[in-house]
Amino acid sequence: MSGLLAGKRLLVTGVITDASIAFSVAKLAQENGAQVVLTGFGRMSLVERIAKRLPEPAPVIEVDVTNTEHLASLADRVREHVDGLDGVVHSIGFAPQSCLGGGFLDAPWEDVATALHVSTYSYKSLAMAALPLMSAGGAVVGLTFDATKAWPVYDWMGVAKAGLESASRYLALHLGKQGIRSNLVAAGPLRTIAAKSIPGFDQFEDAWTGRAPLGWSLTDQEPAARACLALLSDWFPATTGEIVHVDGGYHAIGA
Ligand SMILES: NC(=O)c1ccc[n+]([C@@H]2O[C@H](COP(=O)([O-])OP(=O)(O)OC[C@H]3O[C@@H](n4cnc5c(N)ncnc54)[C@H](O)[C@@H]3O)[C@@H](O)[C@H]2O)c1
Repeated sequence: MSGLLAGKRLLVTGVITDASIAFSVAKLAQENGAQVVLTGFGRMSLVERIAKRLPEPAPVIEVDVTNTEHLASLADRVREHVDGLDGVVHSIGFAPQSCLGGGFLDAPWEDVATALHVSTYSYKSLAMAALPLMSAGGAVVGLTFDATKAWPVYDWMGVAKAGLESASRYLALHLGKQGIRSNLVAAGPLRTIAAKSIPGFDQFEDAWTGRAPLGWSLTDQEPAARACLALLSDWFPATTGEIVHVDGGYHAIGA
């Protein structure tokens, strides 16, 4: 098998539709020689149906990242399909409605806690659950939305992403000795289920399509997926704790 990820064994979380960023990552990864195991959350029959649209059939295991039993059994369940992992893709985010769309000042802690558990803490939990399979080192890659700024409607999800960006650096710090790299891709706005759940998301869409120096497609997940593949590959062997912007250059320009 040839390709950028030839011979790599990957665990890809976060597929719920074929618009999911994770779906593009899984598809491109297979096309580039990787063996892919997917995880699904909640609507397993839907995820299994979507998985059939990949170039190769991919096994799907159920993982709710807030469920300690799912995490504890993850390595054994992945081992039924592959004998180890070279990469893990965290493509997971969720915040209750109160935390989004301008609700920053009123969202209750219980809801904020859910957002942080699913979107931030899970980056570490998932990596640790997969660690027994990564004895030869490897790469963990996650997806963020530039958390260096406060965005109008992103609210607690923005705080969760700031935490994710920090968590990725700490994971890089703590797992570096084991040859494990941790990097994030900061994608521009893309029309996925997660994005559509954010009231006022169209503000991002208008800003990006109007101002990104390279232009920006709201429906093309491939640029973000390509960056994930690059970070999973052997072509970033000395890069960890990094955030690669795949946003048409939006982050680099002033108002
Ligand atoms: N769409 C965008 O504009 C955009 C931009 C930058 C970053 N991101 C990030 O990309 C990642 C993927 O999101 P997406 O846009 O592809 O949307 P998506 O809705 O397709 O994917 C989100 C995934 O999170 C999963 N998930 C939610 N709660 C979970 C839980 N408890 N356990 C396990 N999985 C759970 C869902 O099942 C879903 O598969 C997220 O981290 C998101 O914040 C998205």
